[in-house]
Amino acid sequence: MSRPDPHSYFDDEHPRVGHLELELDLDFDVRRVAGRVALLLEEPSPEVSANRARPVIDLDTEGLEIQAVRVDGSNASAVMGHAEPVLGQRLRVELPSGTTRIEIEYRTAAEPIGLQWMAPSQTAGGEQPFVFSQFQAIHARSVVPLQDSPGARVTFEAALTVPEPLVAVMGAGPGAVEAAPRSGRQRFRFDMPQPIPPYLIAFAAGELVSRDLSDRSRIWAEPSTADAAASEFAEVEAMMAAAETMFGAYDWDRYDLLVLPPSFPYGGMENPRLTFLTPTVIAGDRSLTDVIAHELAHSWTGNLITNANADHFWLNEGATTWAERRIVEALRGEEAVTLAWAIGEQGLAEAFERFGADSAATRLRTDLGGGDPDAVYSIVPYEKGARFLALLERTVGRGRFDAFIRRYIERYRFASITTEEFVAFLDTELPGLGAEVGIGEWLYEPGMPSNAPRFESERLETLIDLGAGFRAGRRPEADEVQGWSAAELLVYLQQVPRPLSVKECEWLDGEFALTGRGNYEILVEWLTIAAGSDYEPAFERLRAVLVEVGRMKYVRPLFLAMGGQPRTRGLAREIYELAAPGYHELTRRTAEEVMEGYPA
Ligand code: BES
Ligand code: ZN
Repeated sequence: MSRPDPHSYFDDEHPRVGHLELELDLDFDVRRVAGRVALLLEEPSPEVSANRARPVIDLDTEGLEIQAVRVDGSNASAVMGHAEPVLGQRLRVELPSGTTRIEIEYRTAAEPIGLQWMAPSQTAGGEQPFVFSQFQAIHARSVVPLQDSPGARVTFEAALTVPEPLVAVMGAGPGAVEAAPRSGRQRFRFDMPQPIPPYLIAFAAGELVSRDLSDRSRIWAEPSTADAAASEFAEVEAMMAAAETMFGAYDWDRYDLLVLPPSFPYGGMENPRLTFLTPTVIAGDRSLTDVIAHELAHSWTGNLITNANADHFWLNEGATTWAERRIVEALRGEEAVTLAWAIGEQGLAEAFERFGADSAATRLRTDLGGGDPDAVYSIVPYEKGARFLALLERTVGRGRFDAFIRRYIERYRFASITTEEFVAFLDTELPGLGAEVGIGEWLYEPGMPSNAPRFESERLETLIDLGAGFRAGRRPEADEVQGWSAAELLVYLQQVPRPLSVKECEWLDGEFALTGRGNYEILVEWLTIAAGSDYEPAFERLRAVLVEVGRMKYVRPLFLAMGGQPRTRGLAREIYELAAPGYHELTRRTAEEVMEGYPA
């Protein structure tokens, strides 16, 4: 037995599933899915022999009710194991020799963790319900029984049945739309010819329309958001062109985007061919499109080359954050990207403070021992990982490093790899570089190595000095502030000390009209200051934001900031009561975990 992934029952000595035929019938009334899946083995299962254990395949499930299991058309012997807290339940299916096809009929739990169901009132249109999937890190198993490990890539065909007039979309190529056997329902077919890790299987259904951005990209959104989204994301084709120049041809045919309701727990999710996005990135001035650059970059780093398991997550996110910055640099120039690094630097410093710089949570290569990957999710693999790659880039020079990245992508495309495989490849391609930069410390030790690259500019220094001078009474003059970009304001706000007095809060809000901002990065930074300063005039906006938006990147710091004072702790509990029913389960866990840390 050999399990390459502590977060899955996947056994790489068992037969491998190469292709899925998936039928999902979505029932919005009971918020469950009735599923049928055929798992096609890459090779017929081996002979049953007297001296060997009977061939079996272990699948991952979470909360699934299995109704029937057949192998090559005959009833199969299948056993469910015990439910483990993070792993879920193993489904072990016996495979008579020569088996090529396993069919499973099942039902999901009501509200499985991999899906969020929304009532019409939680959508922009307010007329139709909505559902979306979020399978990363390990939630595909709550919707489909399969080998749920990034090393177990599959191609698939799928059919989603939804009530009219909902439109179903999937991270896959679209096929026919047919009337379903039950009246008032439609079946949307899809086809995914490229092998993907199960965490990238993705779908959504709701009142959706689309707008073309280019001949290989369109946005999907609710009707009332579609035009704003199309204009916000108009630069997608330019981003794709820049990325292709650096990382090689885009391998996934189309690159579409789906704008989700605001309860979506992430900023973006790189589902292949169809990036999922929070509507909070629609700032009105394209100032938050680095999220798109990021999700697009995953088309190479993450989706082509995938971490072998959650312990190598930095390979996905560190490389993608580095690649995202390269795309941003190509579109917006060096100054803009220096600010982006600085904003990330602040986030990283906060994370180090939260965990402690010598905590194992600040390592790039982690050792979760099967612990819940959602519970340890942080910015560290992103920003520390990106800094490690930027250091390699600076050390050998951009020309050589870019050539290395090209060869890396070429070598491992459609593979799932470990940190150690990355290290070995680096050593073959750029011998000596690892030793020169202290690769062991970077990958395996906590904290930030002293040779971390610095990102500096005059603008940045001015902004940081201004913020740092706040306590001493330094305030920027109107002409200094004039024409600040969103990123510049954000860098400044991040430096502002906290808590502030009421007077200082009044000044900040008055000077920059912060409470009324539509850029959520700025708005949330301000509300974090205001909440931590017990500044009552901002409470109403704080409440409105938290009731509407379930993005964990915003929910966590806001609830953290409300923990500082008795009145804001009461406010947090009151807001949570209101907001929790609309939150994704993962967002609820995040807010609850933060509030559990409040002083009694
Ligand atoms: N793949 C991640 C989101 C994710 C990570 C979901 C782990 C579940 C488990 C995605 O690419 C991401 O990093 N999103 C960021 C975007 C940002 C870094 C630009 C986010 O959601 O904030
Ligand atoms: Zn990412």
